[in-house]
Amino acid sequence: MTDGKNLGALLREGLEFESAGQKEKAVQCYEESIKILKAQTKSVDIIQQEVLKRQIQSLDNAIKKMGVPKREKMDNENQRNDALSILGELGLAVSQGEGPTLNQVVGMDDLKKELFTKVIYPIKFPDLAKEFNINMSGGLLLFGPPGNGKTFIVRALAKEVNMNFIYVNPSSLFSQWFGNFEKNITSMFKAAKMLSPAILFFDEIDSLFPSRDQTTSDASRRGVSQFLNEMGGFKNDPTKPVLILGATNVPWQLDPAVTRPGRFDRLIYIPPPDKKSRSEIVRLYMNNVVRKGEINYEKIGELTEGYSAADIEFLCRYSSQKAFMKSIEGKQNEIVTMDTFLDALKEIKPSIHKNIIEKYMKFELDRKS
Ligand SMILES: Nc1ncnc2c1ncn2[C@@H]1O[C@H](COP(=O)(O)OP(=O)(O)OP(=O)(O)O)[C@@H](O)[C@H]1O
Ligand SMILES: [Mg+2]
Repeated sequence: MTDGKNLGALLREGLEFESAGQKEKAVQCYEESIKILKAQTKSVDIIQQEVLKRQIQSLDNAIKKMGVPKREKMDNENQRNDALSILGELGLAVSQGEGPTLNQVVGMDDLKKELFTKVIYPIKFPDLAKEFNINMSGGLLLFGPPGNGKTFIVRALAKEVNMNFIYVNPSSLFSQWFGNFEKNITSMFKAAKMLSPAILFFDEIDSLFPSRDQTTSDASRRGVSQFLNEMGGFKNDPTKPVLILGATNVPWQLDPAVTRPGRFDRLIYIPPPDKKSRSEIVRLYMNNVVRKGEINYEKIGELTEGYSAADIEFLCRYSSQKAFMKSIEGKQNEIVTMDTFLDALKEIKPSIHKNIIEKYMKFELDRKS
């Protein structure tokens, strides 16, 4: 309707629509006019700029008065809905503002610092980030033994920045994507861009992109190439930031092409919690247990070498359940004590063995050498 029209014609047309009660069409004309006026402000002197700004302001007021949502807003909503339906068809879930807080993630101080510099602050202070030419490019791959917070911290990050969070769990994808793998990868990246700023998180990425010489399937090989192309493309579009994150506990099984520069070019090791973090995790998960006695958190930290964060969370839950059941059975005021923990430790064994840690260390060394 407005294609190729000059400003005067657009404004006249807008007025006509407005007086005929065709509000949406009037808003469209005024919005086009605002775009032209904004473009003009760049090439005129300061006095003219003031005049144009006032014209823009009065058009803005006219739009507001008509009570029709701005087209930009409607477009954004439509785009969001389109993206959600594309992802829905691919069997992918999107969430916003859910998950634990970063404060609930014990330890990982270096990683948190890096996330603040590279992701959280650029999103919270976009203008400043632009002035320093900081943008979110490349991808971050977290690796380490199971149960130590790879998925947990990514969910916390998504909550912190309130970004759209697209969770890709490859194991559930294969059956749904069968026969359409490449096409679906393209659609997934496209939808992520439409939802930007967004986090696209590939959990257990090893099963999506196993080393190409480990797999015999042509489709899988093509899928890896397609993924790498799409990921490279993200670099060029800083106006639509999509943070690509991945997690794996077998980084040595990944196709080496996945970790080349511009792709998952930052690998971060998430080790099991150290003594101090272990006692903090116990403190965290016992925080909401009202019925507890004196618990020596430092001591539990010392006794839990080799326990993952998830093991320790389970230890806390198990101890509380034990005391709870005793309370029910004995109908007495049982509480969780240090002894409850010491008993539970006899039953719950650590899941992380020394040799697996050595394997991660070796992987780190080989990578850096
Ligand atoms: N740093 C941490 N602070 C507090 N709780 C943690 C931490 N790390 C893990 N947990 C607890 O352990 C659970 C399991 O962690 P998570 O699922 O993030 O492990 P993971 O590293 O992704 O493991 P996997 O490799 O098996 O996917 C979390 O849901 C959380 O309850
Ligand atoms: Mg995980």
